Amino acid sequence: MTIERAGIRYKFIFLCLILFAFANVFLIQVLLVYESRENVKSEGFQDEKSEPTLKPSSTTDFSYRRIQFVSNGVDSFFKQSIFSTKHEHNFSSLLTVSPVADEVNVWNLASKWVSSSQIWPKEAPQLSHVVAALKQKKIVAADVSTKGTQLKLALVLEGGQQVLFKPKWYDRDHVITGNVYGGKDRHNGEVAAFHLARLLGLNRVPIAAMRKINLNTEILPVASKILSRTFYRKDNTTCFYGVCTYCRPTDGVCDDRRSLEGAIVLWLPQAFQLVKHRHPWQRSYSSAPAKWQMHANYCSLVKRSKKYQDESKLLNLIETSIFDFLIDNGDRHHYERFASGGPVLLIDNGKSFGNPDADHLDILAPLIQCCRVPERIVSVLTQLQNGALSSWLVKLMTTVENDTSPPILNLKHLQALDRRLKLVLSAVLKTRL
Ligand SMILES: *[C@@H]1O[C@H](CO)[C@@H](O)[C@H](O)[C@H]1NC(C)=O
Ligand SMILES: *[C@@H]1O[C@H](CO)[C@@H](O)[C@H](O)[C@H]1NC(C)=O
Ligand SMILES: *[C@@H]1O[C@H](CO)[C@@H](O)[C@H](O)[C@H]1NC(C)=O
Repeated sequence: MTIERAGIRYKFIFLCLILFAFANVFLIQVLLVYESRENVKSEGFQDEKSEPTLKPSSTTDFSYRRIQFVSNGVDSFFKQSIFSTKHEHNFSSLLTVSPVADEVNVWNLASKWVSSSQIWPKEAPQLSHVVAALKQKKIVAADVSTKGTQLKLALVLEGGQQVLFKPKWYDRDHVITGNVYGGKDRHNGEVAAFHLARLLGLNRVPIAAMRKINLNTEILPVASKILSRTFYRKDNTTCFYGVCTYCRPTDGVCDDRRSLEGAIVLWLPQAFQLVKHRHPWQRSYSSAPAKWQMHANYCSLVKRSKKYQDESKLLNLIETSIFDFLIDNGDRHHYERFASGGPVLLIDNGKSFGNPDADHLDILAPLIQCCRVPERIVSVLTQLQNGALSSWLVKLMTTVENDTSPPILNLKHLQALDRRLKLVLSAVLKTRL
């Protein structure tokens, strides 16, 4: 009798304990989620006001908080890095320019550089000659380019080389607020991204250069009918609106009465077909969050898919996310590779350097969620800490861009690069804690 009653009592106490434990766990969850939301708001690295549609789940918020947290210790950690295998990178070798013989056709030179794994070689002391040709060679034909959604021109330069011209829409100090993918292309971002890729050894970015073009003397005389029909005059300036998804007669781009600045991007050889792939960490571009924003274990889903079972493909996307985070490109909804295989090509970097005050850590989601990172890029980034990134980038840009005023990136964007590099290393550090 008494034993039975004691049994019931124990069962009752046991039940109470379980209920108590559950209540505690629930309370802790609620508090943590609440706390993370509050901190995210106060630290302001997800600008909720300007981005009401992109609200990552609380799991992602936690990761971002931890990255901010460890960023304080990142300098000392990577100085005596016990994890990273140290390769010394000779950045000054990127500044050497070796001459090309007069009879060498620079367009052939550049097209021979392209293989399934690269667009130019890491050691390319003749690169600046190709850049100079992009800046100086006579324009022999001009047409609309219907590739992509934004206004571009398809030009042919003397020697038969095809290039793209992305016109300037914004002054250097203009800040793009709102969605990370908002605004029009930043032509200077395209060129800065090319030089950053040189510095980081990501030799899969098309060669790009700044160029000022006189629309009346250099474009109109060689323009196709369909392009010249989109030209018009406004307050003594010459303008055009081209043909593309977002091209409108009411939304043209105008010169400054003398010339129009833009980015000239070298076209890849016809023999190399591009294949487009949907980016697994694509944004939803609507108020509904994307799958990767909802699931902390999203990476394991990606790894299970056939396409990413080869780990190098995943590491390649992670490396791409580091590059995109540094340049603030949150618009790589698709990526391209050569049909013959090879790594992700970093084509179309125009949606970059929009807001120097924002760090869109969600661009790093592949790194944060997969907790993996290619060792080589960490080694390069480690050697570009504490302002070295921006100062080398300026050296690289000014060595080949001889006549650009104003500078390709303003001081705030250069500082943003150094700040974001630290955040990348913090995210890397977090994967190793
Ligand atoms: C780095 O490269 C430059 C130019 O190619 C060369 O002069 C210099 O000796 C190199 N430095 C090292 C440490 O290899
Ligand atoms: C355009 O140029 C003409 C002739 O040089 C000048 O008279 C006129 O004021 C200019 N218009 C504007 C809007 O600047
Ligand atoms: C740099 O610009 C000056 C003046 O425009 C020009 O004379 C010179 O040839 C340019 N140098 C190079 C390497 O392009």
